[in-house]
Amino acid sequence: MSNQPRHIAIIMDGNGRWAQAQGKNRTYGHEKGAETVRAVTTFCAANDEIDRLSLYAFSTENWKRPKLEVEFLMKLLEKYLKNELKTYLEGNIRFEPIGDLTLFSDSLRQTIEHVRRETAGCTGLVQSLALNYGAQDEIVRAANALIARNTPLTAESLEHALDTCENVDLLIRTGGDHRLSNFLLWQAAYAELFFTDTLWPDFTTAELEKIIKKFKTVERRFGGLN
Ligand code: FPP
Repeated sequence: MSNQPRHIAIIMDGNGRWAQAQGKNRTYGHEKGAETVRAVTTFCAANDEIDRLSLYAFSTENWKRPKLEVEFLMKLLEKYLKNELKTYLEGNIRFEPIGDLTLFSDSLRQTIEHVRRETAGCTGLVQSLALNYGAQDEIVRAANALIARNTPLTAESLEHALDTCENVDLLIRTGGDHRLSNFLLWQAAYAELFFTDTLWPDFTTAELEKIIKKFKTVERRFGGLN
């Protein structure tokens, strides 16, 4: 039973409210949110105890947002991946997207694939961006893949057919709401859940450090008795 948060997953919520509170457009909040993504990723990459950071960047439900906001998020993602390739390589960070990428534009898909390929040899932190990701969609896609291969459906076979089979140790949600919003539902079965009112653009590595410290004091029993 390890008390190291090897896999941290974050639901990055509150960009829109952060911007609106300052009389700015919601998109400004997403731009600031991207800066927090960079800071948190760099922090986790420098921490040997953390192997994987999964970030909920765009959900299967986010397509319901106004067209302009969706377009802005797509452009921001592409810009981020292009600009940050250097950060990934310098930090020995491997980029691994999860989600159904088929709905994205050719250009965004090519950028995602380029960064994935360029960082494939990195051996440090894995930064997993959830893009057009929904856990229910992931489970259905995995089950269909097993059916197509005539593979018996078991917890083990299903787990290995998911976009990622890495179990989450610590799941954090910023922005004040207490829900999982269809993020890593299978992998977070035994995750410790932490909720903070801090809006994502205001979230700092100091707050993350505090949460990790608290996590280390929690007794994890995984359904057993200690
Ligand atoms: C939730 O805030 C955030 C999102 C739906 C998008 C997450 C995107 C980013 C953090 C920035 C871009 C990401 C990368 C990886 C470059 P919200 O818009 O739901 O905020 P609200 O709850 O205040 O409306």
